[in-house]
Amino acid sequence: MRKPFIAGNWKLHETVAEATALAEALRASLADVESIELGVAPTATALYAVSEALKGSNIQVSAQNMYWAASGAFTGEISPPMVKELATHVIIGHSERRAYFGETDETVNRKIKAAFAHNLTPIVCIGENLEQNKAGETVAFVSQQIHGAFADIPAEEARKLTLAYEPIWAIGTGLTATPQDANRIIREAIRETLVDLYDEETAEAIRVQYGGSVKPQNIADFIVMPEIDGALVGGASLKVDSFTAIVKNAVEALAQ
Ligand code: 13P
Repeated sequence: MRKPFIAGNWKLHETVAEATALAEALRASLADVESIELGVAPTATALYAVSEALKGSNIQVSAQNMYWAASGAFTGEISPPMVKELATHVIIGHSERRAYFGETDETVNRKIKAAFAHNLTPIVCIGENLEQNKAGETVAFVSQQIHGAFADIPAEEARKLTLAYEPIWAIGTGLTATPQDANRIIREAIRETLVDLYDEETAEAIRVQYGGSVKPQNIADFIVMPEIDGALVGGASLKVDSFTAIVKNAVEALAQ
C-alpha cells in the first residue's frame, strides 16, 4: 500500500519571517493528520527556520533543488550534505528548473544519485508541455523522462523515490488534467515504464503525485484515483487555509 503524500512547493515565495509563520500555522492546523504524509518545500534561505519550526511535527521539509557535488567551487549552489542538515527531501527536475535553468534528464539523474548518496528522498518532477500534449506525445515523452531520471538507479533506491507528474500546461494556469487522464498517463507512461525498467513490485511501490493547479475544490477527485498517490501543490500551498483545506479534503475523500 502506498501512503499518500501531499507536499507544498513554495517556489520563489516567502521571506524567512513569512515562511516561518506559514510553517507554524500549518503545524497547528495539520497536527491531527495521520493518513497522509505531508511536506513543504521552502526556498533555500528559509530552510533552516522552517526546519526548526517543524521539528518533531508531522510535516517534512524538502529543498526545491540542489547541486550534485558535495562541495567545491560552484558559486551559488547548495550541496546534498547542506540540504541534509535541514531537510529530508529534495525536489529534483521541476519543469521550471528544466525550462529556465538548463536542467536536463542527465542533470536530474545525477542529482537523484547524489540525493540517495546522502540519504535524501527525491521528489522527481516529470510532465509534458502543451504542444507535446496536443500532438499526442505525452506517453512517449514522459516515458523518456523516466528512462533518463532512473538511469543506473537500483530498484531498492527507486522504490524510495516519489515522482510528481506535473503536466506543464496545468502549472499555475488554473487548468488541470482531468483526474482520469492523469490516472491514465501515470499508468501507461510511468508505471508501465517502471515495469520495463525494473519489475511489477518496484513499479507499484513508487508513489506518484499529481501536480498542476491543485486546489481545495479539486483534490478529492485526484486523490481517489487508484494511480494518484497525492499532490505537489504550488500556488494553493502558500496560504494556510487553502493548503489545510487541500489536505483535509483529501483525508475525507480517502476515508469514504
Ligand atoms: P500550481 O499548483 O501553482 O499549479 O503549481 C504546481 C507545481 O508546479 C508544483 O510543483
